[in-house]
Amino acid sequence: METKNEGQQNQKIPLLTPYKMGNFQLSHRVVLAPLTRQRSYNNIPQTHAILYYSQRASKGGFLLSEATGVSDTAQGYPHTPGIWTNEQVEAWKPIVDAVHAKGAVFFCQIWHVGRVSNKGFQPNGQDPISCTDKGLTNNVEFSPPRRLRTDEILQIVNDFKLAARNAIEAGFDGVEIHGAHGYLIDQFLKDQANDRTDQYGGSLENRSRFALSIAEAVSNEIGAHRVGFRLSPFSKYMECGDSNPNALGLYMAEALNKHELLYCHMVEPMMKIVTEKVESIDSLVPMRNAFRGTFIASSGYDREEGSKAVGENRTDLIAYGRHFLANPDLPKRFEINAPLNKYNRDTFYLDDPVVGYTDYPFHEDVA
Ligand SMILES: Cc1cc2nc3c(=O)[nH]c(=O)nc-3n(C[C@H](O)[C@H](O)[C@H](O)COP(=O)(O)O)c2cc1C
Repeated sequence: METKNEGQQNQKIPLLTPYKMGNFQLSHRVVLAPLTRQRSYNNIPQTHAILYYSQRASKGGFLLSEATGVSDTAQGYPHTPGIWTNEQVEAWKPIVDAVHAKGAVFFCQIWHVGRVSNKGFQPNGQDPISCTDKGLTNNVEFSPPRRLRTDEILQIVNDFKLAARNAIEAGFDGVEIHGAHGYLIDQFLKDQANDRTDQYGGSLENRSRFALSIAEAVSNEIGAHRVGFRLSPFSKYMECGDSNPNALGLYMAEALNKHELLYCHMVEPMMKIVTEKVESIDSLVPMRNAFRGTFIASSGYDREEGSKAVGENRTDLIAYGRHFLANPDLPKRFEINAPLNKYNRDTFYLDDPVVGYTDYPFHEDVA
């Protein structure tokens, strides 16, 4: 017979309850956040990523890939993967297969860095492209961008569409459009960066046009039931803040409804610069309430905070970044309330195929 204590222990915390996201039956709410790892030499995913992602896959789990370039102008960091060539698509296949073999759902995060780049990463050493010609203050690391002409913008939208098609070809279950953290889509969205005077600048409606054209094109290409969108309205990272982030977040949540996107993934307001937590009176709840599909909240969460947020219906899923990076078996550790490995910042972006990548121990190896 079960004692009362055991009964309580067997009761799942909200974070570990099943959830149906569109056609995907998830067995828990602990999502792998997109994490750039800079180990894809020459922008080609490598075989060591097979082990890395499959270590983090669990039956009914949901994994997001690291940010993956949509074209040869999309890159801004060394050794980040792409998905615009056949070779890249072929290289992704065994990685996706390994994640599927573990029973997890795997989406590819597709991005374009815009002005967060320099000539060294660009084809023929050309200037990076953006909505603006205003460069970042650090003009040693980042080259001043070239402002896209109005008639060039649909070409970039098309690059996202082709990348999404390629992701499906590689076997991914869907894509997440990276509209966060000061990269190209966010540059268009935010009034600190967007100084355009055409139909892609000025009003909220105009600044959102690029993002929403991508959402529409990608949805038409692969079906909205496998498209998610990541946003960080409150982030100021890469000199890309907005004077009214609440209005921006709400506008986007409502606009994404029109395209019936599978999910909306938002970064918490307390994360102004990606990994540094600050106090904030702002909240994602209005956007969560406005969006009709699945809502994913991320950034700054631990087991307790995540479970509380799901329990209070402030979100459906939680994406974990640094804890999942350092704990390949994070959902299992949350289940048994095991201590977590500490992440090591110094090895986040090392290009080593093992160190700081696939050598974080599983709980059973430590115990
Ligand atoms: C090493 C590292 C790489 C990251 N790469 C990406 C990325 O490729 N795409 C993205 O949207 N966010 C990226 N982020 C942000 C994370 O997805 C996440 O929002 C952030 O780590 C805060 O969540 P956490 O407190 O759970 O770590 C990265 C963060 C870290 C630490």
